[in-house]
Amino acid sequence: MRKIAVLTSGGDAPGMNAAIRAVVRTAIYYDVEVVGVRRGYLGLMEKDFQRMSLGSVADIIHRGGTILLTARCDEFLSSEGREKAVANLREEGVEGLVVIGGDGTLRGAIELHKLGLPTIAIPGTIDNDIPCTAATIGYDTVINTVVDSIDKIRDTATSHERVFVIEVMGRRSGFIALEAGLAGGAESIVIPEVPFNIDTVVKNIKRGNRRGKKHSIIIVAEGAIDAMEFTKEISEKTGLETRLSILGYIQRGGSPSAKDRLLGSRMGAEAVNLLLRGESKKMLAMDGEMIRNFDIEWAISQSKTIHLDDYRLAGILSI
Ligand code: F6P
Repeated sequence: MRKIAVLTSGGDAPGMNAAIRAVVRTAIYYDVEVVGVRRGYLGLMEKDFQRMSLGSVADIIHRGGTILLTARCDEFLSSEGREKAVANLREEGVEGLVVIGGDGTLRGAIELHKLGLPTIAIPGTIDNDIPCTAATIGYDTVINTVVDSIDKIRDTATSHERVFVIEVMGRRSGFIALEAGLAGGAESIVIPEVPFNIDTVVKNIKRGNRRGKKHSIIIVAEGAIDAMEFTKEISEKTGLETRLSILGYIQRGGSPSAKDRLLGSRMGAEAVNLLLRGESKKMLAMDGEMIRNFDIEWAISQSKTIHLDDYRLAGILSI
């Protein structure tokens, strides 16, 4: 293989730049040329290509976002669109591709493989909702960002003796809410994976109140409930001043944690190794300290379950 391409697609995640850097530098180390595709799958349609050099990935390991830009692309969902994508890459002399992104990006990689383009996927999303890997790139950073926000909100919640509902991202999964909620000492955590009962939440708040606790933090995953409606109900049922704070896109930005830089670097390098070994349709995964790989189609057909023990623990620790 003499030339490969790399792209980032879907929601950006801190650590994607570390992965891009590792792909580019590992490939160049093995005398393989690298093309950077800008704006993900959209860039494949539009031939938005740039030649990557050692210097083009200098000074990015500590930066959030993605230097290659990202997008969500409808045209790529059609078979004509995907054929155009592969034709454009072939015209450029590209013989293999590394894609970095979440669920939609991984599905795109399967389709490119079916069209004969060797493709390796790196799971990069703050949501951590990709099966078979203990963590996705960006997850560790977002947990730290959310915990930092909880700590700050707790200061004002204590001062005003208020209840705070904090909505966090995660699409349809509750990983961010659960782990950040546990680490941030939340009184209640509401996630899509566990049936929720507002009366239990109210009971917890009132119990705390009886023993002199005048503030409470409730973490709500965006995919679980309507946080606005929930906040209103909590306020009505407890009679306490209740505020909603939607953390939003602040969760996607910021400098990646050391863990995400390591994960991005290891997975990026391994993606190139796999392409050079003639592999395709593989997804990288973290298993303890090891980087492994799985068939993408098989991996995404598996289910990824949240740690119910953590959910129970959060309940015990918040009494
Ligand atoms: O998948 C990452 C994520 O940040 C989700 O947590 C969130 O639901 C979604 O992307 C938001 O997507 P968009 O950037 O298209 O608004």
